Amino acid sequence: MIIKQKIMRNVSLTAHPAGCAAYVQEQLDYLKSQPLLENRDSYPRRVLVIGGSTGYGLASRMVAAVVGGAASINVSFEREPAENKVATPGWYNTVAFEREAKKMGLYAQSIFGDAFSTEIKEQTAELVKQHLGQVDLIVYSLASPMRIDPVTGQQYKSVLKPIGKTYSALSVDVPSGIVETAVIEPAEGTQVEETVKVMGGEDWRLWIEFLFGKGLLAKGFKTVAYSYIGPEITFPVYREGTIGKAKEHLERTAGELTRNLSVIDGEAYVSVNKALVTRASAVIPVVPLYIALLYKVMKEMGLHEECTRQIHRLFTDRLYRGTAVPVDAEGRIRLDDWEMRPDVQAEVDRRWAMQKEGSPMVGGDLEGFKEEYDHIHGFGYASVDYSVDVDPREV
Ligand code: NAI
Repeated sequence: MIIKQKIMRNVSLTAHPAGCAAYVQEQLDYLKSQPLLENRDSYPRRVLVIGGSTGYGLASRMVAAVVGGAASINVSFEREPAENKVATPGWYNTVAFEREAKKMGLYAQSIFGDAFSTEIKEQTAELVKQHLGQVDLIVYSLASPMRIDPVTGQQYKSVLKPIGKTYSALSVDVPSGIVETAVIEPAEGTQVEETVKVMGGEDWRLWIEFLFGKGLLAKGFKTVAYSYIGPEITFPVYREGTIGKAKEHLERTAGELTRNLSVIDGEAYVSVNKALVTRASAVIPVVPLYIALLYKVMKEMGLHEECTRQIHRLFTDRLYRGTAVPVDAEGRIRLDDWEMRPDVQAEVDRRWAMQKEGSPMVGGDLEGFKEEYDHIHGFGYASVDYSVDVDPREV
């Protein structure tokens, strides 16, 4: 079939196998071009990434493999391809990455299924036991709209809403580039608790306790989950909204896990990362406008990083730098330090004030936003001939 990009309400419904392979290759080539580290031996050799098929999770898996030579297992939720049906980008990325990892002589395997379920945790534990013995690092990088509680079977949904009052701010319609006002009604009923249940730390803790209980976490084990804070303009809908409550819970969970892991000298961290174009972030109202302005400013200042570069810095300059992991007063790793620099934020604010509802966005990098969005779905690569008939089951 000929695979074309189909986007509906900022969600790409298709992905291109050859393009996803090109995306993975581009990231691996970047990582391979980085100088070899002297302290490479202290890097984790056996890594489990939960949500390792796209975005920050995939970047974590690739950095662990290329920079540290790690064997890796990914757990992610994917739609597999059929004769006339494309798979999710995560499926194509995973197949492409695992093929390249094997060429590098590295073990790389995936379990596709619901990470929130006990069944998938059991399958993962079995795979770890059989092939890795134990794990040195678990990266927890899930972004999910729902979770089924493994004990009660109850379904919870996460929403991105302000708490207490309606939020309204400028946004940009990505296809047309026209500035518009986004209005988001406040959370109702149990939406705050449900979002915490899905995106908070409960499932992260279940994973760690489950594998710890089976003796599958190595001495000196580390685990990291990802969070976001962002600029004040998005506080009502993000940090002070439903998702912010979930992230606070995730951050508290890190401290609790570290205390529980002391017998194996284990450490749990939350890393506050930069706002980036991923499948999860592109659908958040206001975020495309903020990211487009942020990208332009950070590119002009020579500070721009996408997922792979961010996570490369997380490993080399934070988690495995050879000294104590640097954290803020709340114990969090701050990889958003460049995004939150006062000069960066002041320039984003200045450009934000230039936007007018109903007019094209000015002073931003909407092209960069779109290009990255296309790339993470395997589109927009000059090296790929999109007019060729391909079998969606082959990467
Ligand atoms: P993403 O959408 O690119 O990746 C999400 C991953 O979770 C995918 O591998 C997907 O397959 C997996 N997943 C979702 N539901 C699952 C389930 N039920 N079972 C198994 N796997 C499942 O998202 P992104 O943006 O990389 O987000 C990862 C984490 O990073 C999230 O916690 C997010 O809040 C955080 N973060 C994202 C930022 C951004 O700007 N994109 C900024 C800072 C933090």
